[in-house]
Amino acid sequence: MKAIVYHTYGSPDVLHLADVPQPAPARGEILVQVRAASVGYGEVAVRNFASISPREFNMPSLFWLLARFSFGLRKPANPILGNEFAGVVAAIGEGVTRFKVGDAVFGYRGQMMGTYAEYLCLPADGMVAPLPPQLGFIEAAVVPYGALTALTLLRRLNIQPGQRVLVNGASGRIGTFALQIARHLGAEVTAVCGTARVDYVRALGARRVLDYTRDDFTRDDTRYDFILDILGRSSFAACRRVLTPQGVYFPISFKLPAVLAMLRTRGTAGQRVHLGISDEKPADMATIASMVAAGTLTAQVDRSFPLAEAAAAHRYYESAGRAGNVALVVAE
Ligand SMILES: NC(=O)c1ccc[n+]([C@@H]2O[C@H](COP(=O)([O-])OP(=O)(O)OC[C@H]3O[C@@H](n4cnc5c(N)ncnc54)[C@H](OP(=O)(O)O)[C@@H]3O)[C@@H](O)[C@H]2O)c1
Repeated sequence: MKAIVYHTYGSPDVLHLADVPQPAPARGEILVQVRAASVGYGEVAVRNFASISPREFNMPSLFWLLARFSFGLRKPANPILGNEFAGVVAAIGEGVTRFKVGDAVFGYRGQMMGTYAEYLCLPADGMVAPLPPQLGFIEAAVVPYGALTALTLLRRLNIQPGQRVLVNGASGRIGTFALQIARHLGAEVTAVCGTARVDYVRALGARRVLDYTRDDFTRDDTRYDFILDILGRSSFAACRRVLTPQGVYFPISFKLPAVLAMLRTRGTAGQRVHLGISDEKPADMATIASMVAAGTLTAQVDRSFPLAEAAAAHRYYESAGRAGNVALVVAE
């Protein structure tokens, strides 16, 4: 089968189309013919991991070290990138009853990667769900990572109807779903994003949209019950002014100062810092699928590229001109 492989870390030029052995489903597994995969923060970071210093990494240095070992110290441990997919079940292993050949599915591979390929195998009871008819393969391929991360992280906040939530970084993979899930919970959402994506984010249901190139939400008059900061570009100190007295600052990406602020404010009745790591489970993928089917979650793709042009897709993703999600079409 064809796959995009890379054997050294680096620029998009390290990605090449190659022939690799097609996997066969073991007992309890399904073989998926991949129709679409995605290009996102994860793929770009893993492709280029040797050049990302602990300082540039958006998480604590210990996480950087663990990621370095897990992705491969000197060269990529897994030569096939890609953590999201949408496709069709092409074969089932012994004992599989949940899916049958021909079923349309979408799913998430996380750090196992391997979706930049014509076929992949995964456990039938893993992070995979039937594709809701509302989504085409290309749109479905940009849902799982962001939606699962947003769902599992927001679940811990106990957001109530009528509360005010600000999402700083609302136009990206996690932020678009955090916005939609918070809104679904009845929150009044203020979204912060770059100029190019203001209209897109407004269409997702944000009550107010601020442009981070012009507006500083920490100087605003509105008070928020929750501030979710996707890239951790603000700080608890700066956000305190615009948090309610019991307001929670939740940087999804965080460094040591946020950890210290979390420890300082833990257990207090006043404003506090919450930190969390997403811990998605297979049942969460089914929840995502039902939220898409109910029209609660939606996704758009700005541009898609054929699998063979994965390097161009990565270049576009990293360019200043990118207006939204980027997908790879693996098979028509
Ligand atoms: N805690 C966890 O468990 C967990 C799990 C997964 C990932 N993460 C972290 O999440 C981050 C990736 O999130 P993602 O995949 O959603 O990234 P993404 O798709 O690249 O989105 C980034 C968002 O940040 C916005 N942004 C860029 N510069 C900004 C600024 N100066 N101020 C405010 N917003 C700004 C972007 O807006 P525009 O595009 O409109 O400019 C976009 O909305 C990584 O740092 C990763 O470490 C955390």
